[in-house]
Amino acid sequence: MAEILREGNIWHLRNEWISYALCELPGGVAAHLYIGPRLEKLNPAGLLRHANAGTEDFSVQECALDRVPQEYPSFGLGDMREGALTVLAPDGSRAVDLRIVKAEVLDEKPALEGLPATRGEGCAALRLTLKDDHTGLEAELNYAVYDDCPAIARSARLVNRGAEPLTVERAFSLCLDMPDDDWDLITLSGAWARERTPYRRPLVPGFQGVYTQRGASSLQTSPFMALARRSADETKGEVLGLSLIYSGNFIARAEDTSTGGARLLMGVNDRDFTWRLAPGEAFQTPEVALVFSTEGIGGMSRGFHRLWGNHLLPKRWMGVDRPVLLNSWEAAYFDFDEAKLVSIAKAAADAGVSLFVMDDGWFGHRDDDTTSLGDWTADMRKLPGGLKGLGEKVRALGIQFGIWMEPEMVSPDSDLFRAHPDWCLHIPGREAITARHQLTLDLGREDVQEFVYKAVANTLRESGAAYLKWDMNRNFSNLGSAALPADRQGEAAHRYILGLYAVTDRLIRDFPDVLFEGCSSGGGRFDAGMLYYVPQFWCSDDTDALQRCEIQYGTTMVFPPSTMGCHVSAVPNHQTGRVTPMQTRFAVALGGCFGYELDPRKLSDGEREALRAQVAFAESTQKLRLYGDFYRLRSPFEGNYTAWMSVAPDRSEALFTFVRTRAVPNVLPPMVKLMGLDAGKRYEIVETGEVYGGDELMNAGLCLPGEFQSAGDGWSALYTLKAVNE
Ligand code: DGJ
Repeated sequence: MAEILREGNIWHLRNEWISYALCELPGGVAAHLYIGPRLEKLNPAGLLRHANAGTEDFSVQECALDRVPQEYPSFGLGDMREGALTVLAPDGSRAVDLRIVKAEVLDEKPALEGLPATRGEGCAALRLTLKDDHTGLEAELNYAVYDDCPAIARSARLVNRGAEPLTVERAFSLCLDMPDDDWDLITLSGAWARERTPYRRPLVPGFQGVYTQRGASSLQTSPFMALARRSADETKGEVLGLSLIYSGNFIARAEDTSTGGARLLMGVNDRDFTWRLAPGEAFQTPEVALVFSTEGIGGMSRGFHRLWGNHLLPKRWMGVDRPVLLNSWEAAYFDFDEAKLVSIAKAAADAGVSLFVMDDGWFGHRDDDTTSLGDWTADMRKLPGGLKGLGEKVRALGIQFGIWMEPEMVSPDSDLFRAHPDWCLHIPGREAITARHQLTLDLGREDVQEFVYKAVANTLRESGAAYLKWDMNRNFSNLGSAALPADRQGEAAHRYILGLYAVTDRLIRDFPDVLFEGCSSGGGRFDAGMLYYVPQFWCSDDTDALQRCEIQYGTTMVFPPSTMGCHVSAVPNHQTGRVTPMQTRFAVALGGCFGYELDPRKLSDGEREALRAQVAFAESTQKLRLYGDFYRLRSPFEGNYTAWMSVAPDRSEALFTFVRTRAVPNVLPPMVKLMGLDAGKRYEIVETGEVYGGDELMNAGLCLPGEFQSAGDGWSALYTLKAVNE
C-alpha cells in the first residue's frame, strides 16, 4: 500500500518498491532527500546533512541555495543552476524565492485542470504549498505514490495571490536534484519512419537532454528521459525513468552539476512560451511520472507499462480485445472509389478481419495531399452513396467500418480556409509557411474547437464508424493566434494543446464506444498525454518488419504493446523496398495492436489462406500480447537478433518472438534466455512439442532450430509457451 509518513519536517512517500523523501529546510526551502528503493526506517541525519549542503544559512546573501538539492528552484537568488521557474514581476525582476507555507496529505489525488494525468485511485497524495512574498506567487507542488507500481507523479500549479499581474516565462513540471552523478542518460530520438531509437551516454557537466519546439511531442524525440547507473543494463541495476504526460513542446534537461550531483528538469518548453497570470489566476503544469527500477531498463519499462495500464490509458479499452483491422492507406493511397474500397473490405472480411478503415482521400476533392483538409464532406465522385452508403456496405460484409481524419489541419485550397483565414496559426503580415501543403488550425480558439468537434462528430454519426484514425501531419510554423493580444502570443502553443485535449475529451465522452487511434505522420505524437484519451497510436509510417523491430523496441521502453498500432504490409515494402518473409511481417506486427496495411486482393491464394490463420492467431493471443508482462530479450541495436516475449500475469503462458536481421553462415544457433517465467513450472513449446523447465529456459536459454542457418534474411520464430503438468 502506498503511504505518506511525516517525521518533523520530512515527508516520506513510499510503497512496496520505492521511497521518495523531501523536507523543509530551516527558512522554508523545499529540499529533495531521496528517490530509490523502499526505505523501511529513515534516519534522516545523513540525508539532511547532504541536503543542507554544509550550511544552515539559506539567506540570499550567502548564495547557499546553489548547493542545495531542491524540489522547485528558480533562478536569481542564490541558486546559479538552471531552475524550474521564471516569472516576470511588474517591477521587471525575474527572481522568485519560494518557501513552504503549507503541507497537506490529501484525501485524493487532485485532477489536473484541462490536462491529462494519471488517475488517482489507489494512491496517496501530498501537496506542498510554497509562496514568494515579493510577488505573491504561490506554487502548489503535487505528489502521488501508487499502491501498485514503482511510480511517483509530480506536477506544479502556480497561483497569483498578489495584486499585480505576473508573466510566467518558464513553468517546468519538476526539478529533481539527485545526490550523485554516477549515471548514464537515456533518451529516445529519431525521425519520420525511424521513431524512438534509444540513445545512451554518460551524464557529464553541461546540458544534455531532448526538446521539441515543433508543436507536437514529435517524431524527432520523446518526452522521456532516464538515468541508468553506469553498470545498469536491460535486466539489472538502478534506472530512473521520467515521462511527461504532455503532447506539445517540451524540454527534458539533465546536468551533472559542479558539486557532484545531477539536476533533472522537465516540462513545457519555455521557447516562445509566456503565460499571463492575472491576480487570482492559476497555471497548471503537466504531470511527470517517475518510475524507479532496480531491475534495469526492462524493469523501468514494466513499471511504466503498469502505471499507464492501471492509471492512465482509457479504462474503456483496457484489457479489452482490439479489432484486427485493415487500413486502406498502403492498399490504395488516394486512388479509390466506393467499389474498390468495398471489394478490398470484402477480401479483408473473407480473411477474418473485423474492421475496415478508409484512410485519407475521401473528402472534398482530395486526389492528392494538396487540397481539401477542413472540408469534411464526402467526395461524391468517389463515394456516390456518401459516408453513410459506404459504411452500410462495409457493415453488410459483417465487419465494422472505420475512418481517417486530420481534424487539426486546413488546406489553403479549401472552403474552410476561404471562409476563415484567421482560424489557422499565423503571424499577420508574414507569408504563411505550408508543410505538406497545409496549415494548422488554431486549436486554442474556442470557435475552432467547436468546428473540429462538430466535423468529427458529424463524420462519426454519418458513417456509423466504430473507429477513427486521428492524424496530424505537420509541425507548427508562423506560431501566432488571432485570438490573443500581442502580449499573450506566447500562450498560443500551450493553448493549442489544451484545446486539443478539450476536443478529444469531449469526443470520447460523446462517442464512448468508438475506438480512437492517434497518428502523427506515424508516431509523431506518441506520448503519455495523447494516450490518456486514445488507447492506441499508429507507431510509425514505416511498416518494414526489420525497421519495425527497432521502432517497436524503442517504443516499448515507455509504452506497452497495447498502445502500438502494428500492421502487416505488402512487399517490396513501400518505405524501404525490402522483401521480408510474410511470417516475419506477421510475427513483428503481433508486437502490438495487430492489423494489415495492404490490398488483400493482390495476395496469392496461399497468402490469403495464411491471413485467415494469422487473424485467428492474433485474436486468440490478444490478451497475452497486449496486456501481458513485456520483456525485451535481444536488442536490434546491439546485434543481428531481436527478441521479446510477453508473459501472462499468472505465468501460465507466454509468447516468444525472435527475428534475425541478416542470414550469417556458420554461426551457432543462438540460445536466448527467456524471462518472467515461473522457474518451478514446466513449459511446452506448442509449435515444437518440446517441454522445458522455466529455470532451464531462463538460465540456459531457448535454442533456435537448425533451419536457422540458411533461412535467408529476416528469418523469424514465434513460439507459444504453455505451462504443463508433467
Ligand atoms: C500519415 C499517416 O501516418 C499515414 O498512415 C496516412 O494516414 C497518411 N498520413 C494519410 O495522409
